[in-house]
Amino acid sequence: MLTITPIGRTLGARIEGVDLSRPLSRADKAAILRAFGRYAVLCFPKQSLDPVQHKAFAREFGSLEVNVAAGHYTVPGHPEVMVLSNIVENGKPIGLADAGQDWHTDMSYSEPVAFLNVLQAIKVPFRDGVPLGCTEFLDMAAAYDDLPAAIKMRIEGMTATHDFNKFWEEMLKRPGTQRKPLTPEQRAAKPPVSHPIVLTHPISGRKALYCTVGYVTHIDGVSKAESDELLAVLFAHQLQEKYKYKHLWSEGDVLCWDNLWTMHNAVADYRPDEHRHMRRCQVMADWVFSPEAKALAAA
Ligand SMILES: [Fe+2]
Repeated sequence: MLTITPIGRTLGARIEGVDLSRPLSRADKAAILRAFGRYAVLCFPKQSLDPVQHKAFAREFGSLEVNVAAGHYTVPGHPEVMVLSNIVENGKPIGLADAGQDWHTDMSYSEPVAFLNVLQAIKVPFRDGVPLGCTEFLDMAAAYDDLPAAIKMRIEGMTATHDFNKFWEEMLKRPGTQRKPLTPEQRAAKPPVSHPIVLTHPISGRKALYCTVGYVTHIDGVSKAESDELLAVLFAHQLQEKYKYKHLWSEGDVLCWDNLWTMHNAVADYRPDEHRHMRRCQVMADWVFSPEAKALAAA
């Protein structure tokens, strides 16, 4: 029997009584889908998924991304399963070290955007009994609800441009970074895209602020001065502490989060010798906007 227990103020629920390594029943899939619309961040503790099972579960909710880093940081034979890790074996990193990327929403710079991250904790670093490398989330539906009416009216129908290169340029400023500027070919492969600033969630019907500080460069169709002024307001508003949920990882957690109404930040508070190892599938926001998903959520 599947049970859902809220674990945060607005975001976050723990789901027990379901084995994600086995095919989901229709009732469980519907309950989980509704839970994404209600809590956004779902933790399934004590799971153990091999890459095939991991992909099968994630694929229930949409098509899977094959990351541009496939082949370097993916599980051999499974280009949809990314390895996020700071472990180095024989002088080579076994995965992508992802922490310290600041607040962002995965793949807001692409079309379609991402629906879910499905992350499995294989190894979690601890110091003095406290888990390190937590992942923080911000509730962008609550942030939208709290906006002054005048701002809500102003941003309704507006679009903003999201550019992967904004995030990359920020990373290049970090001391000791191994990254290099994107080549013209890489930039061409990830051209900026526009999305509405207000996103209506396909499952909950709630409006959310979809204007992530990590990737948005400007608001379309207005002067630079107006864009800068409005973005400063929206960015300061979305980062308030009251919208935050902080997930402390346990090994065996499968944590899934809905990118459509959250932002996240991976906290880099662990040393290179404190090992963290995760596997990730990224689910695109294609199926979730389909009539089939809507019907299932209503079932
Ligand atoms: Fe991310």
